[in-house]
Amino acid sequence: MNWTQYNDKFLSNDTGGWSGHRRFAYDLVRFMKPRTFVELGTAAGTSFFSICEAVKDGGLGTKCFAVDTWKGDPHTGYYGDHIYQGVSDHVNREFQGITTLIISTFDEALDKFTDESVDLLHIDGYHTYDAVSHDYTTWLPKLAPNGVILFHDIALRGGDVGVYRLWDDLKSVFPYIEFDHSFGLGVLFPKGHMEAFTEIIAQKESFKNQYST
Ligand SMILES: C[S@@+](CC[C@H](N)C(=O)[O-])C[C@H]1O[C@@H](n2cnc3c(N)ncnc32)[C@H](O)[C@@H]1O
Repeated sequence: MNWTQYNDKFLSNDTGGWSGHRRFAYDLVRFMKPRTFVELGTAAGTSFFSICEAVKDGGLGTKCFAVDTWKGDPHTGYYGDHIYQGVSDHVNREFQGITTLIISTFDEALDKFTDESVDLLHIDGYHTYDAVSHDYTTWLPKLAPNGVILFHDIALRGGDVGVYRLWDDLKSVFPYIEFDHSFGLGVLFPKGHMEAFTEIIAQKESFKNQYST
């Protein structure tokens, strides 16, 4: 197994809900070297930047797309233009030539991607069961063979949050890795996986422990 842990990354004090997954996401991207990454739900950029950082450091040439209305939703709350402006300034400074920011709904962005063209998809939009199921169903055709889907908030319960319900269904069908910390992150392989992932999937419990601290 050629998996490397780049432990010196992300010592910054970003305490956002996604911050506990940055190390794993960074290592995942260095490992799988996706050609195309699409994120559905970027907000202020914690997850997106961690993946762009891996692309930049590894010289991977991955094209990284962030899709968001940058207006918020009923769970995050609604926010002003400064959030998009902050992301835009940061990617222009740090990740030139790597990133494209798409200001639109997830549905409107579908036409910009051909089927089976996305190697890594991160679904982190509105978290009701219906909304996340819709995002999964509509974007699944865009996923390439052996592609990987990340789901955030699989461990979150309460109110009308329903990512965990979709996740429980999917992990009973497809190979997966999962983490419980930082509201949970699911890693799904719904269209097969690179041979290199076989050992990692088999060791998912030990993997979970390595990234939980
Ligand atoms: C949970 S936040 C994303 C958090 C981010 N991944 C991070 O690392 O902090 C969800 C984002 O999804 C966006 N969103 C929700 N539903 C959307 C939709 N259907 N189309 C476009 N953006 C949407 C919201 O505007 C919000 O910024």
